[in-house]
Amino acid sequence: MIKDQLEAEFVKSSAKPSQCPDPNKPEYAFIGRSNVGKSSLINKLVNNRKLAKISGRPGKTTLINHFLVEKTWYLVDLPGYGYAKVSKKDREKWILETRKYLLDRKNLICTFLLLDSRIPRQKIDAEFMEWMGKKGIPFVMVFTKIDKLSSREWGKNRSAYIKKMQNEWKSLPEMFYTSAENGMGRTEMLQFIENYNGTFKRPIAKLL
Ligand code: GTP
Ligand code: MG
Repeated sequence: MIKDQLEAEFVKSSAKPSQCPDPNKPEYAFIGRSNVGKSSLINKLVNNRKLAKISGRPGKTTLINHFLVEKTWYLVDLPGYGYAKVSKKDREKWILETRKYLLDRKNLICTFLLLDSRIPRQKIDAEFMEWMGKKGIPFVMVFTKIDKLSSREWGKNRSAYIKKMQNEWKSLPEMFYTSAENGMGRTEMLQFIENYNGTFKRPIAKLL
């Protein structure tokens, strides 16, 4: 049974993977381009608007933020990538620390890669997925802000996206269609998390 509201508390912000909380609970990380809606979706999942900080300006989340949900599992809000105004040095540091986190984090069950449903696939997202595929990092795709599209527009964008993926992947990662505005996809994501919390297995997608 999925509850309307989940108990969630901020644990800590870490600049490096080595500073993260002990890896003793199942963990799910949110990643994606700046402004795609990572923090908003985290808040929607637990139904607490004030948990993760949200901003209309890209680049709001700058550290690895751990939230403990129902005292049993972690949601992690990561800084966004691909934000043009961030200096090259900061961008490289982000890539290094995030990749380290994704490769080394023992309790990371799945990474939710967030993608803006309104725009065609971006090179940076495709490259990031390919990297995760090659490294065997489990991830699923989460399309965001679907409330901003008509069902016709969304149908068109979704087909185009899936077609591109099918040219590259033997098995496609699971996909979620969401809106932090109206709660679309919330039940499905929480059900997914609940299933994996029980098994501690990881969903791996395979490249061709
Ligand atoms: P960074 O922390 O900068 O990487 O951004 P983020 O990915 O955490 O994005 P954030 O959640 O801060 O949201 C960015 C903007 O998009 C905010 O103005 C949100 O209100 C808006 N937004 C996020 N999700 C949705 C959604 O599902 N629907 C609509 N309409 N707006 C959304
Ligand atoms: Mg954020």
